[in-house]
Amino acid sequence: MSAGTSSTAIYISGLHVRFSGFAALTNLSMELRYGEIRAIIGPNGAGKTTLMDVITGKTRPASGEVFLDKVTNLAALDETSIARLGIGRKFQKPSIFEALLVRENLELAIRKGRGYADMIRSHVKAEQNQRIDEVLATIGLEAEGSRLAGTLSHGQKQWLEIGMLLVADPHVILLDEPVAGMTDHETARTAELIAGLKSPERAVVVIEHDMDFVGEIADLVSVLHEGQLLGEGSMEQVRSDPRVIQVYLGR
Ligand SMILES: Nc1ncnc2c1ncn2[C@@H]1O[C@H](COP(=O)(O)OP(=O)(O)OP(=O)(O)O)[C@@H](O)[C@H]1O
Ligand SMILES: [Mg+2]
Repeated sequence: MSAGTSSTAIYISGLHVRFSGFAALTNLSMELRYGEIRAIIGPNGAGKTTLMDVITGKTRPASGEVFLDKVTNLAALDETSIARLGIGRKFQKPSIFEALLVRENLELAIRKGRGYADMIRSHVKAEQNQRIDEVLATIGLEAEGSRLAGTLSHGQKQWLEIGMLLVADPHVILLDEPVAGMTDHETARTAELIAGLKSPERAVVVIEHDMDFVGEIADLVSVLHEGQLLGEGSMEQVRSDPRVIQVYLGR
């Protein structure tokens, strides 16, 4: 489906998520748009990761709507089907294959979505190699392709994991705390990388606690608190919102 600037990628309405009685998300409504970098911020336990779990089919909502492109009901699909629709997600903890080469990690990622046997048997095609080269350049690891992934720095591992998403050219990219544990230099480099992902045909959603980083990359910031949307706006707007300061920024 073609997607113009500012059209809705993910439509969420009246979302409720409960874990054995505990309300992790309550009546959450939000629209994530193509062409936009959205930051989701808020205190620990606010429900940020849970929101990504619902979009990617890992967690089922108790009620409410989650749609891709306003037509595809994501709440009715499993994780694999949702990934195949072009929704890519990086988890809070990196999950690269440390015993494989950097390039092999990207090869595995490009073949993911096929059956396991097919994935093992199939060879990487020329166009896939080209895509892997492009992604290596995007994530700044063009000189590290034949290194063992386990020998990369923490920051480089995070970039590799972002690269493993990018090989599939997703239209929706969800990144959970991409700069956690990074050095200042790595964080600055990650801000450039993520800013470079912005495209009229792509929605980028980033959960982060690093407010300087968020201010650098985000077009719009949504603040979650105790499973509810506390506020939404530019970084300046949420930074000066007394409720946001009280529950989060003023800590
Ligand atoms: N699978 C689960 N089973 C039970 N409770 C859960 C589950 N997943 C999340 N929770 C609870 O739901 C609440 C929201 O968790 P979530 O991981 O979404 O928070 P978060 O905003 O991502 O926090 P952080 O900034 O610490 O990563 C927390 O109280 C958490 O303990
Ligand atoms: Mg989280």
